[in-house]
Amino acid sequence: MSNFKRTLVTAALPYANGPVHLGHLAGCYLPADIYVRYLKLKGEEVLFICGSDEHGVPITLKAKAEGKTPQQVVDYYHNMMKGAFEKFGIDFTHYSRTSSPVHYQTASEFFTILNNKGSFDQKESEQYYDEEAKQFLADRYIVGTCPNCGNENAYGDQCESCGKSLSPEDLINPRSKLSGAKPIKKPTTHWFLKLDEIQDKFLNEYVGSHKEDWKSNVYGQVKSWLDQGMQPRAVTRDLDWGVPVPVEGAEGKVLYVWFDAPIGYISATKEWAMKEDQNWETWWKDKDTRLLHFIGKDNIVFHTLIFPAMLYADGSYIMPDNVPANEFLNLEGGKLSTSRNWAVWLHEYMEDLPNREDELRYVLTSIMPESSDSEFTWKDYQARVNNELVAILANFINRVMVLTNKYYGGVIPNVGSTAEFTEQALYDRTNKAYDEIDRFLAEFRFREGLAEVIDLCRAGNKYLTDKEPWKTQESNPEGTAEVLYNCIKLTAHLGALLQPFLPNMARRIFKLLNTTKTEYRFDEAIDLLAGHKLSAAEPLIRKVEDTEVQAQIDKLNANKVNNTPAPVPAAVEEAKPQGKASITYDDFAKLDIRSGKIVSAEKVEGADKLLKLGIDIGSEVRTVVSGIALYYTPEEAVGKQVTILINLQPRKLRGIMSEGMILMAEAEGGRLLFVSPEGDAPVGSSVS
Ligand code: MF3
Ligand code: ZN
Repeated sequence: MSNFKRTLVTAALPYANGPVHLGHLAGCYLPADIYVRYLKLKGEEVLFICGSDEHGVPITLKAKAEGKTPQQVVDYYHNMMKGAFEKFGIDFTHYSRTSSPVHYQTASEFFTILNNKGSFDQKESEQYYDEEAKQFLADRYIVGTCPNCGNENAYGDQCESCGKSLSPEDLINPRSKLSGAKPIKKPTTHWFLKLDEIQDKFLNEYVGSHKEDWKSNVYGQVKSWLDQGMQPRAVTRDLDWGVPVPVEGAEGKVLYVWFDAPIGYISATKEWAMKEDQNWETWWKDKDTRLLHFIGKDNIVFHTLIFPAMLYADGSYIMPDNVPANEFLNLEGGKLSTSRNWAVWLHEYMEDLPNREDELRYVLTSIMPESSDSEFTWKDYQARVNNELVAILANFINRVMVLTNKYYGGVIPNVGSTAEFTEQALYDRTNKAYDEIDRFLAEFRFREGLAEVIDLCRAGNKYLTDKEPWKTQESNPEGTAEVLYNCIKLTAHLGALLQPFLPNMARRIFKLLNTTKTEYRFDEAIDLLAGHKLSAAEPLIRKVEDTEVQAQIDKLNANKVNNTPAPVPAAVEEAKPQGKASITYDDFAKLDIRSGKIVSAEKVEGADKLLKLGIDIGSEVRTVVSGIALYYTPEEAVGKQVTILINLQPRKLRGIMSEGMILMAEAEGGRLLFVSPEGDAPVGSSVS
């Protein structure tokens, strides 16, 4: 870092098709924010850029399903996300959006420059087209029967019921989501970035030069992409929402969202520069600027290969120096998902648990998925807050405050010295913490950095417990004074070290200590001298009660039934949603779900994914055709207890009438597991 004069930090532009959830925070925004605060505390010049990613098909689909315009959808989520980030304390220098005029112009110019330089191949290909809607269909606009599981509403890119990735060609009976019509194939022209050429000229060497400094989870993924060989990629789409392709005759075509979104980092910097009367190019074109992209793992290829390839093709930009991507955060045993409404939403967290921003920062940092996926559970949240933040940190500080009040009327006692500490061991331990935290944060090891602060606090607790100043107040008043003096100093340093991680908590500590400033740089002495009066003792935080976490668990479980995100509210009565809407209990009660047992199983001729099952539901044996053959042999299936929906309309699959559906849970890698009762439930007993 010392080679650079300034750092431009970006955090992935979140899609404006849903609110921010804990996975986004732990994956990207929180580490970026901690890192930025850390650089500032070291006195470095930093810019922290982000904004809403407002293009792409999911947004147009959501708009359509809810009878809104894409602009209405993105306006709503943009404001919501911006507000939530601000309130939570993600400290962006500038938060923009890709529907802004500056962005349209910047993205459009970027494309034109590359086009003029010959970085694209223009190619014709056959794409699905809806003749009724007169529109080419993005993968997500095509639905049909999944060849894997028979789900009739699988998308052209994925079946949401069995999880399999598909391409539109795989779908049986494809139909347009727009009109329901059967799509036809029609030729269309697109612009392809010549990633194959850029790989040879630039990407191999660029990535190779970062073998040592990129995180291994990042480098490994990038390397495997390069090893497979990059192919030219289309950077345009037939769609009416996005930045128009700035070429004559390209009406009805827009830049692909993944082409325009990263340019959003540049446009946002421009916007900020205009506002602040600064030069944006200093941040993007000066070799003394270090560019860092914080992202989640699903964004790695775009930030380490495609965006660098775009910047290279232009030729006037610096390259990302590091891309510290995190893995995924799971939630209570499941994958976080906006579309399935399985998430803890940031804005709701702040409503439900007000003034507990730093508790969440603490927990998410402690479990940050830095090198592998990790999991958030509410019980763990409670345990970490109560057993670490409250029991170690708040407890130490409270003891120090109370004792100082009791013995010295809340005034720092005079110990005949102005030394930072009068106890060498404590001085050394504190210095070590600064060094370690500096090293950990420089290497994007946020968990260990935060753990080091708590460890330092543990050392403080031990010191206080060993010295027992409450016993020596009469016999050794100088000794007691020194102990408290040291503990007050340590409290101040804990506050300083917490600043990048828990900025609110740090400020509260400074407030208790009644310091002159609300922020202290890492190299700055904390001006607490004998005779200084502290504020009144006040607990730093309170415990998380069982009832508080239970309420959150109940709320999540309610989402299991109502697994559709809340629609964008409308001021006026709008068209009825066509997507999965929330259902009432009465709707749920229409499902006749029973417990059953597989009594026979055989392969279905010509379909290697299907098994024909006989399922005993007490009153009869039902025939069900199920897409589980990849995971269970007929022998393994027989005898299994299952849960079966028996009043699903029967339908023919491969010539066999299927009379129900068995419920399967998706495990890692898309493997399917039977959903069965915990104990023995008689066949035919109802599930509700
Ligand atoms: N919107 C994308 C996502 O949430 C991230 C875009 S990052 C950018 O996965 F580089 F394209 F801006
Ligand atoms: Zn499927």
